[in-house]
Amino acid sequence: MRKIVINGGRSLKGRVTVSGAKNSVVALIPAIILADGIVTLDGVPAISDVDSLIDIMETMGATVTRQGETLEIDPRGVQDMPMPFGKINSLRASYYFYGSLLGRFGQAVVGLPGGCDLGPRPIDLHLKAFEAMGARVTYEGQNMRLSTEGQRIHGAHIYMDTVSVGATINTILAAVKAEGRTVIENAAREPEIIDVATLLNNMGARIRGAGTDIITIDGVENLHGTRHQVIPDRIEAGTYIALAAAVGEGIQIDNVLYEHLESYIAKLEEMGVRMTVSEDAVFVEKQDKLKAVSIKTSPYPGFATDLQQPITPLLLKATGSGYITDTIYEKRVGHVQELANLGADIQTRGNRIAYKGPSHLRGTAVKATDLRAGAAMVIAGLMAEGRTEITNIEFILRGYSNIIEKLTELGADIQLVEE
Ligand code: EPZ
Repeated sequence: MRKIVINGGRSLKGRVTVSGAKNSVVALIPAIILADGIVTLDGVPAISDVDSLIDIMETMGATVTRQGETLEIDPRGVQDMPMPFGKINSLRASYYFYGSLLGRFGQAVVGLPGGCDLGPRPIDLHLKAFEAMGARVTYEGQNMRLSTEGQRIHGAHIYMDTVSVGATINTILAAVKAEGRTVIENAAREPEIIDVATLLNNMGARIRGAGTDIITIDGVENLHGTRHQVIPDRIEAGTYIALAAAVGEGIQIDNVLYEHLESYIAKLEEMGVRMTVSEDAVFVEKQDKLKAVSIKTSPYPGFATDLQQPITPLLLKATGSGYITDTIYEKRVGHVQELANLGADIQTRGNRIAYKGPSHLRGTAVKATDLRAGAAMVIAGLMAEGRTEITNIEFILRGYSNIIEKLTELGADIQLVEE
């Protein structure tokens, strides 16, 4: 097993560039199955989720060429076959193969999704949409089979009981080549949904309303190849902004779309974080006094659930006390005990997290309990006095490209070592 070792307490400075969005690219790659030509993606992040998806695509018969951040995929060799279960289980976003295989072949046999342990992560809304569009769902061992039994998948009017990024995107994937019109009400509005719709529309799809809570898709016969630039990763950006405020003395984060982070930046300003937001970058000064605030996550454009863990070490620097309530994943608290082990005054109380700052953190052995909890461990380790060792770091490498190189560049004393 590998671990990350940090000698903390140092001030960092310089510039860091945000990579392409993980939560976009994990949908863009499966979406390419729907094309009858070559699709090229630019700005693809160097993360292990992408490696896993490339493996799956090649196993299914696609031809994939990767040059740096550019991925060229020819999906014309993709066969309608059961998905390779092992790889499927490694990432939750494998569920996007349901929608794209259903959209292309009218059937899909896919292993049940894996991913971070954030408590139960159902896919009932995905299945409800597919059934409304004419697919039948059956289970074969650990695989799930979706099939329209030879009929063409057809459009439907779908109301999402819960706002769901995955169910919204998966329904779009199944609908773009379906017979007739699909309407999704109470759709999620995340920027990644707009990115997927942009790719599909550039392939010839007819999607309107992505980014709003009502999305209309008129099915077409064919989708052709195209070239597409992946949007910047707003969660990676938010993570580096929190890190810069926690341990930086002047850090510029490049490739940031302010409109993707409005609620997050507003919360940082409420804390008194001094930063300059420009067209596509954020400059964060060295901070002195910060004020404790409370946070409540909500679907986009609210405060992102994926950022409540990375911002928490920064909250621990602030003076005062506050609460963090994750309304989307109540159990997204794996980082709390680990932060307490570093000396933080933080605990879960019922369905929320209570903290009191400022906390003086001292390095020790901690573990990443999930992807964004791992990011919180890295920031806390940079803040803590002495040596911090983080295990279970495969989670971190799933969503943060070149994190060791990026932090070393900023002056951090951080290594990835074999245990
Ligand atoms: C996406 O997950 C992201 N992952 C998550 O980021 C993110 O936390 C989440 O959206 C919320 O923003 C990817 O995009 C790959 P949801 P997803 O469906 O689509 C419930 C990260 O750190 N729900 O929007 O799986 C669900 O339990 C990851 O990058 C159902 O009840 O999330 C949750 O409470 C972690 N039934 C809420 O909806 C369903 O069928 C939102 O989940 C689907 C979801």
